[in-house]
Amino acid sequence: MKGIICEEIEKFALIDMPEPQIVPGEAIVRVRRIGICGTDLHAFKGNQPFFTYPRILGHELAGIIEWIGDNEAGLREGDQVSVIPYMHCGTCIACRRGKTNCCTDMKVLGVHIDGGMREKISVPVTHLIKTEALTLDQTAVLEPLAIGAHAVRRSGLRSGETALVIGGGPIGLGVMAFAKYAGAQVIAMDINEERLAFSRAWANVAHTVNASHDPKEQLAAITGGDFPTVVFDATGNAKSMAASFGLTAHGGTLVYVGLVKADIAFSDPEFHKRELTLMGSRNATREDFDNVLEALRSGEIDVARYITHRSSLESMIGQFESWLKPESKVIKAMVEL
Ligand SMILES: NC(=O)c1ccc[n+]([C@@H]2O[C@H](COP(=O)([O-])OP(=O)(O)OC[C@H]3O[C@@H](n4cnc5c(N)ncnc54)[C@H](O)[C@@H]3O)[C@@H](O)[C@H]2O)c1
Ligand SMILES: [Zn+2]
Ligand SMILES: [Zn+2]
Repeated sequence: MKGIICEEIEKFALIDMPEPQIVPGEAIVRVRRIGICGTDLHAFKGNQPFFTYPRILGHELAGIIEWIGDNEAGLREGDQVSVIPYMHCGTCIACRRGKTNCCTDMKVLGVHIDGGMREKISVPVTHLIKTEALTLDQTAVLEPLAIGAHAVRRSGLRSGETALVIGGGPIGLGVMAFAKYAGAQVIAMDINEERLAFSRAWANVAHTVNASHDPKEQLAAITGGDFPTVVFDATGNAKSMAASFGLTAHGGTLVYVGLVKADIAFSDPEFHKRELTLMGSRNATREDFDNVLEALRSGEIDVARYITHRSSLESMIGQFESWLKPESKVIKAMVEL
């Protein structure tokens, strides 16, 4: 079978690889869609410090079960499935408390272990989600949207609250969509006007703020001086993450969805006077995947426009570098098999 391997930094190769072996507790999935995300782009560029090569990328997967043994999940050959790519240990302190998304020994498919950029992959049955009534495209974006759904669920955002989402990339857009789905009034903030325009058109946010022009004043005007009660930072930018403390309402919650390899310093008086709740949000759990599935089924989230670029497995290598360029206006690129 064919697959693409990232042999070293900036070097992909389409090669013949061995078929996956049948392993107890696992199913063989024929891969039909592979979503490309920032992690893949960083891995290719060599900006991902913990990354080792060679590695088969691909963690946003949709496919069809080709072989499965007896299982309690009621899954059968021919079922369309999404893959939860987070391989948790099941025994650590986080796993024992149901927080499998932040396992101490997390191995993410396509990141720490080989992923799905190939015709077939073997996946633990526990990590498959049947996506009857969804399209293959919807099935493949379950994972990136689940990141946003998890952040929103974790924040405790309630209907009627005002939420600010900083960063209108694929992750921030997912947060916006689920904040709206939760009934919040959503403000999108970015430094890139095209991303703000996309946030308005796709996520239908109530307001957009360009972070380059006194965002504090703009947010005060929009909220009548109250400021958003929940702020999500999905920029991966340390300056934005530090500044977001000052943009959150007194008594509010700040959620770091984006991450950065740096120390973040903040003013304790700003933190304390607000009695701010600061949260990290990592990956997602099955519950979040199920919630996204429901939202997609209801037709509330427009996947067609979220996917901006497409390629076949054969033509992916030639197109991949263009997806790194801002001019390409990529939100989500999708490889079809
Ligand atoms: N929580 C998780 O488990 C999880 C999973 C995947 C990705 N991420 C992280 O989420 C973050 C966002 O991912 P993405 O793929 O959407 O990235 P992206 O780079 O496509 O989007 C980031 C957006 O933030 C904007 N931005 C940058 N600096 C800004 C600033 N100072 N003020 C306002 N906006 C600013 C950019 O213009 C861009 O539109 C990254 O840090 C990524 O590593 C987190
Ligand atoms: Zn991803
Ligand atoms: Zn664990």
